[in-house]
Amino acid sequence: MKSIYLIGFMGSGKTTVANGLSQAFTKEVLDTDEIIVQKYHQSIPEIFQQKGESTFREYESSVLFQTPTEDTIIATGGGIIEKGSNRKWLKENGISVFLKTSWEEINQRLINDTDRPIWNNQSRNKRILLEERIPKYEEVADIIVHTDGKSIGDIVKEIQDKLLEMNKSI
Ligand code: S3P
Repeated sequence: MKSIYLIGFMGSGKTTVANGLSQAFTKEVLDTDEIIVQKYHQSIPEIFQQKGESTFREYESSVLFQTPTEDTIIATGGGIIEKGSNRKWLKENGISVFLKTSWEEINQRLINDTDRPIWNNQSRNKRILLEERIPKYEEVADIIVHTDGKSIGDIVKEIQDKLLEMNKSI
């Protein structure tokens, strides 16, 4: 079966849900940010600081295009949908699950976060960024799950049910 790509804004729970799905389906789990860190031997904040966002986006696309498109659960970075080429690739190669989380909940979860360069960039309006990105997540998504107030177990179950409905269970 095609791989499942978790997409959504920072703090929407992609990594945690990917781990839950990986257990539920006994499939391998990957995380594009983790692969970038391993491959380029730098943390995400270091890459942003020393090489800039555009280099990070190049790394991110190159990592995305090399992910296994079968039998794997893949958590992606929140900005993966920024590039049209990434959106096209996702639409053609994977089943994308958009974790749709409200601004209020994201803000609450990331209040003390210091590891996300875009979140920590005071000159960027993250609320507007979320609004700008929503149509791009929706363009790619095969499944949309509203996550507010739901447990990881609820979200995993909802995704399993929706995959079954689509007859795309892995
Ligand atoms: C980013 C999200 C991060 C990471 C990088 C950029 C973004 O991943 O890829 O800091 O542009 O939204 P998470 O969504 O896992 O925080």
